[in-house]
Amino acid sequence: MSEGKTTAVIAVTNQKGGVGKTTSAINIAYFLAKSGKRVLLVDLDPQGNASSGLGVDKSNLEITMGEVMSGEEVLATAIKPTSHKNLAIAPTTPHLANVEVGLASGKNKFTRLKTALSSVEGYDVILIDCPPSLSLLTVNGLIAADYVLLPVQAEFYALEGLGQLLETMKLVRKGMNTHLELIGVLPTMMDARTTLSNQVHQEIKKHFGEKVFQTSIPRNIRLAEAPSHGVPVGAYDRWSKGARAYKAVAKELEQRLEAKK
Ligand SMILES: Nc1ncnc2c1ncn2[C@@H]1O[C@H](COP(=O)(O)OP(=O)(O)OP(=O)(O)O)[C@@H](O)[C@H]1O
Ligand SMILES: [Mg+2]
Repeated sequence: MSEGKTTAVIAVTNQKGGVGKTTSAINIAYFLAKSGKRVLLVDLDPQGNASSGLGVDKSNLEITMGEVMSGEEVLATAIKPTSHKNLAIAPTTPHLANVEVGLASGKNKFTRLKTALSSVEGYDVILIDCPPSLSLLTVNGLIAADYVLLPVQAEFYALEGLGQLLETMKLVRKGMNTHLELIGVLPTMMDARTTLSNQVHQEIKKHFGEKVFQTSIPRNIRLAEAPSHGVPVGAYDRWSKGARAYKAVAKELEQRLEAKK
């Protein structure tokens, strides 16, 4: 993070779909907020899963990340409080997908999000929930971010495709965001009883070493149920394995961020 900067911007990204990006973004955001950090979760995925997962009624939104990325509105007008203290969200709707198409031929197409984020103050951490692609939206996320948090699903194809993401990060670092850094790799949907999960975990560790969080996220039904209630797992079943794991990851993340200061 650059000197004097007080907000850590973290892109939660992996171009593979369904690996736990949104689940991680919501629940890490929640536990950071619970420990007193002022947190903004930016929903940068046109699917809008982070928005619904935090209980935002998407049928009733006037200003969203679509309008912010198109340049029609400033970010502050899109931000909504949640029912959780210290946790705000900049929600999105499928309209963001149309905006992305137009963005490709627009001005400043890579730096829209960076500019938007620099216009708000008062957050300790901003988490960006990226879509499952290496699209213009994701690149906006990488350029706006200080750090990447990479959830990796503990399954056979987990590491396939990651090369491409790391290559994109390298390009971003060479170009528009020289200080982008991988803050942590998070193994998700682990089933510690299976050999496969453990083998993949070993592979992830071999590849990323110290960057891998000590805590892994277990496969836990509570994590899959919580979004249908519009709340993070910590507010749904705080003693579940999923909640306890995300609480521990949030703590590790906080320590890593602290060490960067
Ligand atoms: N640890 C877990 N245990 C059980 N279910 C999980 C876990 N993590 C995520 N899920 C479920 O798996 C599905 C995919 O998770 P999630 O939406 O977080 O992934 P994603 O990477 O954001 O997906 P996308 O690429 O579509 O944005 C969701 O239905 C979610 O509830
Ligand atoms: Mg998602």
